[in-house]
Amino acid sequence: MTQITGHTRLFGILADPIHHVKTPQALNALMQRVGYDGVLVPLHARAEDLATVVGGLKLLRNLGGLIVTVPHKTAMVDLCDEVSESARLIGAVNTIRREADGRLVGEMLDGHGFVAGLRQSGIEPEGRSAYLAGAGGAANAIAFALAQAGVSRLTIANRTRAKAEDLAGRLAGPFPNLQVDIGTPDPSGHDLVVNATSLGLKEGDPLPLDVACLTPDQIVAEIIMQPVTTALLAAAQARGCRIQPGQPMLDCQLALMAKFVTGGASGIGLAISRALRAQGARLVLLDPDPKSGDVAAELGETIAVSGSVTSRADVARACDAAEDFGGLDITLANAGISSNQPTLDVTDTDWQRVMDINLTGVFLTAQEAGRRMLARGRGSILLMASMYGVVAAPERIGYCVSKAGVVMMAKALAVEWAARGVRVNAIAPGYVRTPFLDDLAARGRLDLDRLEQRTPIGRLITPEEVAQAAVFLASDHASAITGQVLGVDGGWAAYGYL
Ligand SMILES: NC(=O)c1ccc[n+]([C@@H]2O[C@H](COP(=O)([O-])OP(=O)(O)OC[C@H]3O[C@@H](n4cnc5c(N)ncnc54)[C@H](O)[C@@H]3O)[C@@H](O)[C@H]2O)c1
Repeated sequence: MTQITGHTRLFGILADPIHHVKTPQALNALMQRVGYDGVLVPLHARAEDLATVVGGLKLLRNLGGLIVTVPHKTAMVDLCDEVSESARLIGAVNTIRREADGRLVGEMLDGHGFVAGLRQSGIEPEGRSAYLAGAGGAANAIAFALAQAGVSRLTIANRTRAKAEDLAGRLAGPFPNLQVDIGTPDPSGHDLVVNATSLGLKEGDPLPLDVACLTPDQIVAEIIMQPVTTALLAAAQARGCRIQPGQPMLDCQLALMAKFVTGGASGIGLAISRALRAQGARLVLLDPDPKSGDVAAELGETIAVSGSVTSRADVARACDAAEDFGGLDITLANAGISSNQPTLDVTDTDWQRVMDINLTGVFLTAQEAGRRMLARGRGSILLMASMYGVVAAPERIGYCVSKAGVVMMAKALAVEWAARGVRVNAIAPGYVRTPFLDDLAARGRLDLDRLEQRTPIGRLITPEEVAQAAVFLASDHASAITGQVLGVDGGWAAYGYL
């Protein structure tokens, strides 16, 4: 947002008091960097006026969404028209999107921010056992997010045992297979130890758990941001543990908030979906993200299938849904995750997760789609690779290797299926400007200026530019193009000078 105009989307943060909030500065900077025409303003509402204020805001047709903070997080649950199941069970929302029809859809992103912060630091919670100190608001959100992220078991330790038992009881509904225990101050035997209490904020606070039991193989994570190194983190470090401070949770949450309130108005898959819809294509989206239902509604003539590319049954279901639209003409295998850590820190679980989504997921998609297309004798399959499938970067071993596999998959499938009417090509984008990328930059993990200087066209790529390449490859204009890797990288991979 460079200038507020009649097109600018309005967002607000509801709080009381309001003067201390820092979200407007952070989210406005984020929206500006990604070129999103929106502005977030502070909205000072007293608890007793909240329902009236929210009722009025709902009627604002240019309102995009709301951020909610103290003391309104709990009360907002009942004022939303829809909240995610985890937000309902946690009993709090902190981010709300206003749909085109005025409905308010709420989500609780505290815990998701925590998990995203871990992943940014190269710590994958999936498959790890977790110990959680605390059962209050933040602990609730983190417990649900850790369960959703696939921890192998979860132990909750709280001064008041009944509160821990209550949280464990609420987790049982959505996660019936997760082993949840009530713990003691002893965190032994857990891979990941999390302090989600407020102990550590003030000097002289007692420690939230028994640090004498910590062992060097454990990761100890905090939610407290100030001080940066709490007494717990200092003790954990002294005992040889890897530590994770509180700040990444907040930083990552900002990017998630931006994505949620703008309706996921980012991402390469969404840009390609929009571009294909503009060409008249009817779509089936396969995505585990429940928000893909909203995206499908916004796109029109689109079916959202909830599932993962790592499951053949899910992929087959999505392909079958496309058959209901009259047959599968175009398939885009876009799902992919990043993996950004020194090779020596990559665990078996980290490696497997990248391979499962980035490589096996692409294979299953191409195979299931190819089966149906070959039967009809026509079709175009697009595989989302990356320039890092062609040139290498350090500390991205799983990402680079999986994307290189995707590049070869496009060639191997193309030569096998060319004579039977099915074309297969790969797209290899450079750094694409998304809120996620900008947030990494904001936290010093990527230097956008350097990336822009390194790109011969002098700037990053937009999702729409990748989408135009996809539309071309999918179209009959590309009828003689198969087995190719189309770089959409502003010249990055070609550049070999200084
Ligand atoms: N952003 C970039 O700079 C960049 C550069 C080169 C290549 N890429 C590739 O482009 C693709 C899209 O990236 P993006 O930046 O739009 O990321 P994104 O995170 O915005 O989108 C990824 C999408 O994949 C979905 N997804 C994740 N796991 C899934 C699974 N198991 N099954 C089905 N869907 C799943 C997510 O829900 C999300 O909608 C990825 O393959 C990525 O590697 C991105």
